[in-house]
Amino acid sequence: MTTKLLERTNDILVRPFSIGRLTLPNRVVMAPMTREFSPGGVPGHGVAQYYARRAAAGIGLIVTEGTYVGHESAGSSARVPHFYGDEALAGWSAVVDAVHQAGGRIMPQLWHVGMDRMVGNPPVPDAPRIGPSGIALDGTASGREMTQADIDAVIAAYVTAAVSAEALGFDGIEIHGAHGYLIDQFLWAHTNRRTDVYGGDVIGRTRFAAEIVAACRDSVAGDFPIFFRFSQWKVGHYRARIAQTPHELETMLGLLVDAGVDAFHCSTRRLQFPEFEGSDLNLAGWARKLSGKPAVSVGSVGLGDEFPHMSPGKVTDIGELLDRMERDEFDLVAVGRALLGDPEWLTKVLAGRTDELTHFHGGLLGSLR
Ligand SMILES: Cc1cc2nc3c(=O)[nH]c(=O)nc-3n(C[C@H](O)[C@H](O)[C@H](O)COP(=O)(O)O)c2cc1C
Repeated sequence: MTTKLLERTNDILVRPFSIGRLTLPNRVVMAPMTREFSPGGVPGHGVAQYYARRAAAGIGLIVTEGTYVGHESAGSSARVPHFYGDEALAGWSAVVDAVHQAGGRIMPQLWHVGMDRMVGNPPVPDAPRIGPSGIALDGTASGREMTQADIDAVIAAYVTAAVSAEALGFDGIEIHGAHGYLIDQFLWAHTNRRTDVYGGDVIGRTRFAAEIVAACRDSVAGDFPIFFRFSQWKVGHYRARIAQTPHELETMLGLLVDAGVDAFHCSTRRLQFPEFEGSDLNLAGWARKLSGKPAVSVGSVGLGDEFPHMSPGKVTDIGELLDRMERDEFDLVAVGRALLGDPEWLTKVLAGRTDELTHFHGGLLGSLR
């Protein structure tokens, strides 16, 4: 790695960023990653240390793994952390303290899986399966269509979680509207066949998400950041799209901005892929341009096998990311698997010590380190 590139990497990634009450020392975010190391839904000491290690190693902002909001239908895993109940919230309080003591900042990712029951080890068998239309991602009918009472109860569960997050000292929240889970099931025409106000065109399909955001916004301080994560792709459906055109995306994002979103976390599997024809902008680039709000990009940063211009240990190949950030295409970049591989990923990259990086491989998912 040349001195010039090392300087450029530091210049671009180590710029402070402020949003609401939150100021980040750099542009790197830990991506939310489900780990299923919270038996009974309670995050313990190991979870706190896992996040604190990344905070101590200089990550600007941590977004936690998806954590279930307090509704009986929110999820099916007995090892995904809850974001409700005294024991789980005490666990989260210890996580926040550990991360803050290590000098970091952290937001919980608030999650409801809806019709999706792929995550679950072991599964909770009697968790009801509900969604916008009782249609699973593969198009088959199962579970049941949500009633207005279900919708109101899930919105209330998000509000309770947002209020708890603020009370526990978290630095904001991220609402999980991506990857084919409940909120995304409303956004996607394939799983949302409703004919009431929550279905139909993009305005109707965005309504559920916007109501959740607005209700959370009304219940927390005005400067408490609300991030909204969304994706075109769904688990097992990588060509799926919620917005076919920039205009549809603009409509969706506009409604969410009006509801109170402060930043969009735009989930793509490879951040160098253009989102719409005729432009090089990726999904985060479009989101920032169309919404006027800050955007987080993500996708295969630091992964030699998935990023064509990036081979393991060669930070020189971070060039494409730097080019895009230098053009202000997006504001922040989230890093997932590379940070599982090496908690000190950022420290090493910024110091040019890329030959010391431990690279991600699937076997690492078996433990919290
Ligand atoms: C083990 C694992 C668990 C994940 N769990 C979540 C999750 O709970 N919520 C979420 O929004 N994305 C989740 N993701 C997606 C990541 O946040 C991220 O978008 C994806 O891994 C791409 O980033 P990367 O290429 O830097 O790993 C998960 C990814 C992995 C590898």
